[in-house]
Amino acid sequence: MQLKINGKTLELTQGDITSQETDAIVNAANSGLRGGAGVDGAIHRAGGPEIMKESRLLGGCSTGSACITTAGKLKAKYVIHAVGPVWRGGESGEPQLLASAYRKSLEIALEKGLGSISFPSISTGAYRYPLDDAAAIAIATVKKHLAGETPLKNVVFVLFNEAAFKAYQRALSS
Ligand code: APR
Repeated sequence: MQLKINGKTLELTQGDITSQETDAIVNAANSGLRGGAGVDGAIHRAGGPEIMKESRLLGGCSTGSACITTAGKLKAKYVIHAVGPVWRGGESGEPQLLASAYRKSLEIALEKGLGSISFPSISTGAYRYPLDDAAAIAIATVKKHLAGETPLKNVVFVLFNEAAFKAYQRALSS
């Protein structure tokens, strides 16, 4: 499923983000950049130890922010480590922090002049953010970025399962 915005493409696909060939793939990281399970585990496993070596030098990345490393053995050139919020009921700034994690990732892509980027569904696994709410924020933040001046021509959401894919489809078509 695709949407054209300002001559650029926003695409939804179901699969594993580690096999994406976009310039960057985004990791759903923790603020210590310590690695973990979910997307984070998959990226470090597939990319090899170089990504963790560079992550350690960054000394952490605050919630709602994003940091960049190279991508080791992955096909992508960079991994952008975005730190989404843990869901605590929605009254602790979670929507703003989630939007900020996407926005900061897109700003890093812009600074680096990247043409394409893939996102996972940040915060909706171990961090328990409700899927439909997270999808609406993710799609709205990317749409806003693509409507402005950006070198990004292609933004892909790589959804790991059907439930996530359907939630993002609903968000894209609403
Ligand atoms: N490709 C794409 N999506 C994936 C993959 C993959 N290989 N593996 C898991 N996912 C999906 C999950 O199904 C979920 O929808 O990514 C989404 C985000 O889930 P998590 O990876 O658990 O990320 P998050 O909820 O942001 O929690 C981050 O989990 O692994 C730790 O170190 C990480 O502490 C951090 C926390």
